[in-house]
Amino acid sequence: MKLLVIGSGGREHALVWKLKQSMHVEKIWCVPGNGGIAAEAECLTADAGDVASIVRLAEKIHPDLTVVGPELPLVNGLTDAFRLRNWPVVGPSKQAAQLEGSKVFSKEFLLRHKIPTANLYGTYDAARDACDALNGVAWPAVIKADGLCAGKGVFLAPDKTAGKDFIERVMERGELGTGGKRILLEDALEGDELSFMILTDGERYAPLVPTRDHKRAFDGNEGPNTGGMGAYSADDLLPDELRRTILTKILEPTLRGLAADGIPYQGFLYIGLMLTKSSPMVLEFNCRLGDPETQAIVARMDFDLAEVLRDVAAGKLDPSKLRWKRGASVCVVLTSAGYPGKYTSGKPIDGLTSLSEQTGVVVFHAGTKLDSSKILTNGGRVLGVTALGSSLDGALAAVYSATEKIHFDGMHYRKDIGARTSRLKAAGD
Ligand code: AMP
Ligand code: GLY
Repeated sequence: MKLLVIGSGGREHALVWKLKQSMHVEKIWCVPGNGGIAAEAECLTADAGDVASIVRLAEKIHPDLTVVGPELPLVNGLTDAFRLRNWPVVGPSKQAAQLEGSKVFSKEFLLRHKIPTANLYGTYDAARDACDALNGVAWPAVIKADGLCAGKGVFLAPDKTAGKDFIERVMERGELGTGGKRILLEDALEGDELSFMILTDGERYAPLVPTRDHKRAFDGNEGPNTGGMGAYSADDLLPDELRRTILTKILEPTLRGLAADGIPYQGFLYIGLMLTKSSPMVLEFNCRLGDPETQAIVARMDFDLAEVLRDVAAGKLDPSKLRWKRGASVCVVLTSAGYPGKYTSGKPIDGLTSLSEQTGVVVFHAGTKLDSSKILTNGGRVLGVTALGSSLDGALAAVYSATEKIHFDGMHYRKDIGARTSRLKAAGD
């Protein structure tokens, strides 16, 4: 098979790395890729969010299968354009991707199908109405911009003043672009978060190993929200009873709800859960794999991903093919100084070559670029150091010892990935 992978993050590097191990795979192209992906696949230049240019490119190269990493091409309808041409592709349709593309759509879906989620106060198109509604809520409360906002659209507001400020920035000053034209207001939930992902061909589904992301920039869950500073997966992250509850009370009602609404769903579905004291509740849906959760998930895959994704595109998923390495895996993200705020790129990265020999550790690139023979930083999240271990402690020891060998100017990472943390704290402060 000749594969096309869309995207440029650590998630896509992890996918390319795993797909390349398949005996069925002859070649991989990646659009647009990054400095690390360039060593494993042929990177082609095109805007991943621009459906027409990806279609033009696919017309030239004829991939046997296309795998879409990020949400933007999905929300923009890339898979619809491919299916129209009978080109095999993995990823939900534009309509199904609304589960991530519109928080209002997904909240209405959750409420309509009685899937446990935070209580909704209301949805608002005008800043004045939204600010008025703040008079009737319990604090802290959560304010969400409706559209895609690159991880910046959710604010855990500690009080009315902070809530009003966020609403004005988003709805009046347009700081998050069109994604912030409409907002919703809901109760804040407390607990540990869990990223629960599945792969489905529209009929059958297979859960992936459970993971936990760490969203705040600094240790102890301090600082602003980021795209994710690290993730881990471990056998004991999801006890059997909780797993059964998630399947019967959340996942299966979601799949039934999609079918009842006439929305076929094929691809990866990410359910962001809050494990509250009473029960798991849905925080959000994503229409794709998580980043950096994917790096930790891929490390535990004990199956041929290319074969399984080919089956999904053909509507023939065999869930028993998804086998997992026992134990644990960890991904620690190394970021540029200043991320998730302003940061500078173009810093040389040292220490990568000494790691290529270390068994059980893989460094997935995110914001990097290859400049002649040198790898330079090229984004906020730069690298994801990932390790597998027979226990979480073993995986953590391997990952942190590898991390110490890498260096670039301003490099930052969290030292407490894998630690349980459930403090409720205002986002963005
Ligand atoms: P989202 O953009 O919907 O993925 O949400 C990003 C993050 O915001 C989640 O991972 C949670 O940490 C937080 N969050 C979202 N909704 C709530 C809520 N109702 N209560 C508490 N935290 C939330
Ligand atoms: N790590 C969270 C996400 O990918 O949305």
